[in-house]
Order: sequence, then structure tokens, then C-alpha cells
Amino acid sequence: MKNRLLTTKSIETILGEADETGEHTLKRSLSANNLIALGIGAIIGTGIFVLTGPAAAMYAGPGVVYSFIFAAVACVFAGLCYAEFAAMIPVAGSAYTYGYATLGEIFAWIIGWDLVLEYAFGAATVCSGWSGYVLSLGQDFGLRLPPALAGVPGSVFVFYNGHWELLTRIASKLDAAKVDPSTLPHQYGVFNLVAFIGICLVTTILVVGVKESAQFNSVIVAVKLVVLMIFLALGGYTLLKHPEMAQANWHPFLPPNTGGFGHFGMSGALRAAGVIFFAYIGFDAVSTAAQESKSPKRDMPLGILGSLAICTVLYILVSLVLTGLVNYKDLNVPDSLAIGIDTTGFKWGSLLVKFGALGGLSSTMIVMLLGQSRVFFSMSKDGLLPPFFSHVHPKFRTPWISSITVGLVVATFASLIPLASLGEMTSIGTLLAFIIVCSGVWVLRIKRPEVHRPFRAPWMPFTPIAGIVVSLAMMIGLPWETWMRLLVWLVIGLCIFFFYSRHHSKVTSWD
Ligand code: ALA
Repeated sequence: MKNRLLTTKSIETILGEADETGEHTLKRSLSANNLIALGIGAIIGTGIFVLTGPAAAMYAGPGVVYSFIFAAVACVFAGLCYAEFAAMIPVAGSAYTYGYATLGEIFAWIIGWDLVLEYAFGAATVCSGWSGYVLSLGQDFGLRLPPALAGVPGSVFVFYNGHWELLTRIASKLDAAKVDPSTLPHQYGVFNLVAFIGICLVTTILVVGVKESAQFNSVIVAVKLVVLMIFLALGGYTLLKHPEMAQANWHPFLPPNTGGFGHFGMSGALRAAGVIFFAYIGFDAVSTAAQESKSPKRDMPLGILGSLAICTVLYILVSLVLTGLVNYKDLNVPDSLAIGIDTTGFKWGSLLVKFGALGGLSSTMIVMLLGQSRVFFSMSKDGLLPPFFSHVHPKFRTPWISSITVGLVVATFASLIPLASLGEMTSIGTLLAFIIVCSGVWVLRIKRPEVHRPFRAPWMPFTPIAGIVVSLAMMIGLPWETWMRLLVWLVIGLCIFFFYSRHHSKVTSWD
């Protein structure tokens, strides 16, 4: 029994499967640039557009720049390990397949199940942020939904100035106007309709084709990069013209601790790093496109590390400029970049940032959902999930049933669960996957040193160990409720494994 659970799938078998061709296989159509774009598409999203401002306001002040550097360092270790695996075993299953090759079937299952947290919950989180921007832009143009369809269950709306408004969005406004929210009429959200529709639209694009998805993604990536560049250009220009602004806002750069762990000072910068970590999630999703890459051995490391490097530089610059333009205390808002642009006096900039955020978030959703259906595709090929998950559409050459099933489930999550809970589940799931991947790289170097590695992670075994330690530290920083939910999630997964997957596994029955 123990041996069967720890059965590994040989690298040779995996590579043989990846080389299969024909109408029921994935199409190898992505270039290195497509992959870097895919990575940037997944990485830049809710993190920079939504979370940066609140992280600075609540935990680190301008020192959020340090938080971006900490989180990037953590991701680099995991990124190097992902790059080694993705070049060596270029298949759609990513960490799931790496786990199968190194640690055994039960671990592979756990990672595959855990990746649902990263990709499916990640897509739902981002869609939740996206729906916020859609509703806010809608309001700018006079379009509103009834509260029941504009928020997840539990979200509170109050009637103010002739409109139903989300309480959290206008709380500071009410405070300034000395209005007690409990005196205003209340209604509650029931179903976030915009988030549901958003995921359905993205799923349709994914079913039509990965090439089309990649092209659509490249266009959107260009849009969000341009928007961030414009933010940097306008903000940088303003700060150069008025250096006294930056001088006032950047002092103190790391506000002193106000008492208690995580409230400014060094511990605040660390806590902010835990929040900001979400902004980097996605570089690993590049590895799920390995089977659709034209030249994965060369291009996988380029795609993973290239997109991570570009985003790190951008994030550091954007957070530096943002905290120079606006006092960190005023940044606890969902659209902080738009607020930043407002201070430059270029009024058109704020609308542009909102549209850029919309586009930016939609490409993040695409890559996350793409990753999710590809992981299920691989698990189904191995027999651990029912065969329909690996059914490839003969015309579109995409795993369409998997995409639609995933899309419907994610749309339901996004329309019913609050953004913060979704985000924490995404982070804990991703960190667990990082730990398993780092361990896998290390194990495989010891067990199969002779296998050709087109890319080798440097400084072994320091790199995987550092990746494990830093990821674990960030996991420990997350609330215990999130740990409990992770545990429940894993127990559900193990039940499926013992009642279904174990009996249908192709790998163990081959032995
Ligand atoms: N890194 C992605 C984001 O910030 C998940 O939205």
C-alpha cells in the first residue's frame, strides 16, 4: 500500500507522453515572447492595482518598497526551481507532474488538488477585484446594479446621496461627513453577478483556442504595461518638478513601529510582504503552458524568470512613485493608483488607470484559468480524474470540458466568497506548491543526478532550502482560519483520492 502511494511516474514516460502529436494533443504554438507575456499577464493584476495602497497605509508606509523586494527574493528561489523543472519536464501539469516524477502519486495528487487553490481561487480573487472596477466605472457612467446583484453574501450596502453604495467603499467619506452608517438604510449582497459573467467570458475565450488566448493576452499585457509606464512617467515627472512632495511623503521612509507586530517598522514591512506576495503569484503559471511551447527547454526559464524580473522592477518603481505622490496614510483605498495619478493634475490619467486595471485583471484571469484546466488535463490523463477532463476539442484543440467545468465552479466562487478570503486561500495554496516544488528539485538532484537539465538552478541545495524556509515563514504569517480551510480542502481531496483516483490511476496499474 505504502509503495503504491509513493509510486513515481518515470521522467522518460512523462517526456514520451509530452512528445505525442495528433488532434487529441495540445498544440505547440507559443514562442518565448508569448511565454513572457503569459507570465506578465498572470503576474500584474490585483496585487499592484488593488493591494499596494492598503499595504502601505496599514503596514509599511513607503517601506512597502522593501516589502516588494522581500517578496521578490522569496519568489526568485521558487522561480529558479520551477525553471529547472519546467525545462527538464516540459508538460502541462506543472508542479503536479514534477511531484509525480519525484515524490510519488499521493504527493502528486496533493499538489494537483492544492494547485486548484492557486489557480481557481486565484482567478476568483482577481475576478472579484475586476468586478469592483467594473462597478466603479459603471457608476462613473451612471450605471448601477441593485445591491443584491452587486456584492457577495454578507457585503453591506447603504443608501446615501440617492444611491446604494458599498459601505466599505464610502466608509471614510461618511466618517469625514460625520454620518453614522447605522442610521442609513441597509441592504445586503446576495450574488456578485458581474464576477460571474466575467469568468464566463474568459472561459469562452479559453475554449476557442490557446493561440487566440495568447494573442488576446499579448494585447492586454501591452495595455497594462503601457498604463503602468504612463503612471511612472506622469508620476516621475511630477516628483522631479516638485521634489518637495517626495521629500515630505518619503520621510520617514519606514515609519517607526506603532506597537505590536506588523504595525509599521521592520515587522510591518514583513507583514506587507505577506500581502504583497499575492502580486507576484503567476510566474509559475508559465510552466503549465510548457506543452504548448514551441521550444520549452530554452524558453521555459526565459518565460518564468523573465516575467518575474520585469514585474519586480516595475513593482518597485510603481510603489516608490505612488508613495512619493500620496501620503501613505491616504492610500487605504481600492483604486490607489488612480488616486496617485489625480495628484499629478493629469485628470485623464485616472480614467486610463481604471481601464488599464480592468484589462490587466482580465489577462490575469485568463492565465490562471488556463493553468487550472491544464493541471486537470494532466491529472485526468494519468487517470486520477475522470477522462472527460482531458478530452481535447477536435477543432479548437483545447481541453474544453475541463475549461467549462472549471469556469463554472470558479464563477460560482467569485460570485459568493469575499475577496480577502479568496486571496488568503490563493496565497496559502501557492506557498504550499512552492514548498513541494523546491523539495522536488532537491530530491530529483539526489535521486536522478544523470537526467539532462537544460537549466540548472544555481547554489544547490541552498536555493531550494531558502525557497522552502521563506515560503513556510510567509505561510505562518497567514491567519489560522486560512490554515483550517487548507486542511479541510486537503481532507476533501484525500477522500476523492482514496475513493476514485487510486482505483483509476494509470501509473500504478502499469506497474
Ligand atoms: N499576481 C496576480 C495579481 O496580482 C495574481 O493579481
